[in-house]
Amino acid sequence: MTVHTLFPTQVYAAPLQPGRWRAFNNRLLRECRQLREDDGAGRRWSEHSYPGGYTSYNSANSMHQMSPTFAVLERELNRHVRAFARALQLDLEGRALSMTDCWVNIMPRGVVHGLHLHPLSTISGTYYVRTPRGSPGIKFEDPRLERFMAAPPRKASADVAHRPWVVLPARAGHVVLFESWLRHEVAVNGVDDERVSVSFNYGWF
Ligand code: NI
Repeated sequence: MTVHTLFPTQVYAAPLQPGRWRAFNNRLLRECRQLREDDGAGRRWSEHSYPGGYTSYNSANSMHQMSPTFAVLERELNRHVRAFARALQLDLEGRALSMTDCWVNIMPRGVVHGLHLHPLSTISGTYYVRTPRGSPGIKFEDPRLERFMAAPPRKASADVAHRPWVVLPARAGHVVLFESWLRHEVAVNGVDDERVSVSFNYGWF
């Protein structure tokens, strides 16, 4: 008897650069908070689109082209994105995946980032700058969920690969990558401290 596993959904997680991340994250954190100070348009946009938090998604979304620190992050991420593309066995036909967007997210207590995906991109991901103990991870949804018409629920003890939702922990200094069509969210930050991350898209077109 054979039970085939077909159409896997792969999510990549790794430390950005083992050993050297703390000083780098302190620099990034200072720049993220400075950006929040300077970016009035982003703060206004966040008031209705990211209540209680700050994101530069709609205002300063090319941080890799604005700041040498974020440019270093881009260079480091490029290696991981190439490794993930190999794991996915993508045929890139000689064209590189390149960073198209890079923005800052600051989530104080009570802020949530609802279910979404990243249209028009190929690979998306997040780099964690500051993750206070108890702050939420990133939650992925089974992309087949809308087709599960008469499917029974999975056992509470089911393997991670069989669960309809999986939360991967957010760890400072670590990067998570996924294909941009994979729906995800960040649950409410319940701790009295800021969770800070940098999100990004890579495009192939
Ligand atoms: Ni996202």
